[in-house]
Amino acid sequence: MSAGDQKKYVGARVSRVDGPAKVRGEATFAAEHDLPGLLHAVLISAACAHGRVSRLDTAAARQVPGVLDVFSHQSDGWKMGKVGGYPRGPAGTSLLPFQGPEISYRGEPVALVVAQTLEAARHAALLVEIEYDRRPHHATLQAALDGPLLARKPLPPLGHSRGKPGRILKHAPNVIERTYDTPAQHHNPMEMHAVIADWDGDERVTIYEPTQWMQSAQGTLAAALGLEPEDVHVVSPFVGGGFGSKATSWPHLLVTALAARVLRRPVKLVLTRAQMFAAVGYRAATRSEYRAALDGPQISALELHAHTQTGPADLFPEQVGMIPKMLYATEHMEFKQTLVQTHAGPNIMMRAPGEASGSFGLEVLMDELAAEAGLDPLEFRRRHHADTDPESGKPFSSKHLLECYDRAAGAFGWERRTPEPGSMKDGDTLIGWGMATAAYPVYASAATARARLHADGRVDVEAGSHDIGTGTYSILAQIAADALGTDLDRVTVKLGDSRLPKNGYSGGSRTAGSVGSAVLAAAQGLRQELTDLAVNDPLSPLHGLAPIDIEVRGGALHAGTLRDPLTDILTRAGRDQHETYREIIPSGGGQKELDALKQGQDGMIEAVTDTHARYSFGAVFVEVRVDPDFMTPRVSRIVGAFDIGQVLNAKTAESQLIGGLIWGVSAALHEQGETDPATGLVLNANLADYHIPVNADIGEVRAIALNGHPDFHTSALGARGAGELGIVGTAAAIANAIHHATGKRIRSTPITVDKLLG
Ligand code: MOS
Repeated sequence: MSAGDQKKYVGARVSRVDGPAKVRGEATFAAEHDLPGLLHAVLISAACAHGRVSRLDTAAARQVPGVLDVFSHQSDGWKMGKVGGYPRGPAGTSLLPFQGPEISYRGEPVALVVAQTLEAARHAALLVEIEYDRRPHHATLQAALDGPLLARKPLPPLGHSRGKPGRILKHAPNVIERTYDTPAQHHNPMEMHAVIADWDGDERVTIYEPTQWMQSAQGTLAAALGLEPEDVHVVSPFVGGGFGSKATSWPHLLVTALAARVLRRPVKLVLTRAQMFAAVGYRAATRSEYRAALDGPQISALELHAHTQTGPADLFPEQVGMIPKMLYATEHMEFKQTLVQTHAGPNIMMRAPGEASGSFGLEVLMDELAAEAGLDPLEFRRRHHADTDPESGKPFSSKHLLECYDRAAGAFGWERRTPEPGSMKDGDTLIGWGMATAAYPVYASAATARARLHADGRVDVEAGSHDIGTGTYSILAQIAADALGTDLDRVTVKLGDSRLPKNGYSGGSRTAGSVGSAVLAAAQGLRQELTDLAVNDPLSPLHGLAPIDIEVRGGALHAGTLRDPLTDILTRAGRDQHETYREIIPSGGGQKELDALKQGQDGMIEAVTDTHARYSFGAVFVEVRVDPDFMTPRVSRIVGAFDIGQVLNAKTAESQLIGGLIWGVSAALHEQGETDPATGLVLNANLADYHIPVNADIGEVRAIALNGHPDFHTSALGARGAGELGIVGTAAAIANAIHHATGKRIRSTPITVDKLLG
């Protein structure tokens, strides 16, 4: 890079480059692909949480005109190879469909009807008769804690201990004990999970699927069906939201693919909204038991024992300790986590998995401790600001939390808060102001990308990554346009095809930093190779110059008044295109992650690594208004300020942060899976009864992304992710505001009216 290089797009408020196609309906989502001879499948999910299928009669279903087959554990030829559940394997669960009559979790697939039309398949599905031998089950965390049939497993690797918290808590005069609960929540992206499987013979298949990780489908199908991963071609150009549920492959992928192979026709399956509540993971319920010792205004020891729900087979930890371990300067700290198995099915990551649920307890506790210490909640947090990472002892790669506090508090008007609960009113309406700290680890992966310049000046950027609605197409186009000194509309970004350069899963807020840095490397490599061509070409005005003195902007290389358009360089070389491929290793990682990526694994490095602790930070301030008679809380105002390193696109970054904040409102006031303890079924498995905020529930929301703090310890771009940070702490800030308004301390989400009236 030279000082005069173009810096036109990176950081700017650029509208989504894929926006027009989406608005015009030209962006083809998985289920919209229309293939000749396409058959339609309907999945039948177990209406039983634990037991076995005692009778499965498909005779009536098979009579429906247009039905080709009804598959189940009774079908021949459905034996599958073992597949690991994430993170050890690529699938969402190691429990494979149709391998026997046993039912291990509610919603487990029991049959698949395939017909010429969707209508015939749906009708036939209603005619499949299934009976179950039911066995006792525990479908919720509470039920499992009350009387475990399944195991409780302590997970030593997730624990953390520093100092001597036990000794201090034993002798401290002021110990505060609190328990906080968060419920199971269910991913509900606008676009339901869908699969089209289209075989070419018996060994090669094309999968159209909305996914956050194409290599998950490749690895899962390869392991289960004995294929070569590269013979599974995954096409996923657009994803209508995923939030973690689309990070891994689920059993419905396997049954759709097998049905298509058996029938020798392409088969399409779209899950129903109700099936989204049981078949594609969920955010596990959590319980956080805290003990904190206060020594005047200072926390002298902190202890967190957490219980989190998991499925019957795989142990996927909801990482509630991630943030409590590192957020505040407490010398003495212990964290232990126990996984509690339930028959609620496999749980999986869901936007800020662990950080969102774990921050609720921590940040409400901080509010309670501040009150106990007689301090303003913001002041109390400032006093516990960690200058280095308390967990690892390492310096932070970059941390501007104090600036987040200042910016958000200033914009919110926090200094006008009066501390007494119930002391702020508007007429009769109770006003409450609360706040919380946000933090989210920086995940990074090995990444690869290709950049190509055509002789007519068009640029292609290719990466086998995904745009899950976050703006990946846009930021990658911006990065390439600046690196090649060209206009944004000359750049075409290609994502969502497993034949493109390999990349890891689009989750953990790591695509921007990781894939973005690979695109930067590829585009800079391309520019460098074109520069070399120019300076070595006697016909170039730049012939013989040192590459270091050459800048790129306006589609041309420049040195002083000399100028050589990129397209001329190609034309003179007699080429119609030039392309460059680059691989990068993640910050804090090494060749190991790159090798893993190239072998079809994730290529991710965990957050706290060699030299630095890498986190994003933020501060969230909330105003609630509570009707004093009905105790209905409304969030009228949210101001958040966030430190996400280099902002790549001010507009999409803000949108991500606002989306996170609004999801925090959902977690605080609305959202929970209501599981029937008797049957294990989710009773509110639809978007009318599973409450999420609508526009009328959302007041003013402002997200401020700090600028001017690129973090080059985390990526070559200096960028950290913005997708998950905004949800962290937000539910706690709302709970704290409700306490400030009403004096009622609610320690479980969602904070519903019954809890406030109780
Ligand atoms: Mo996210 S829960 O890492 O898709």
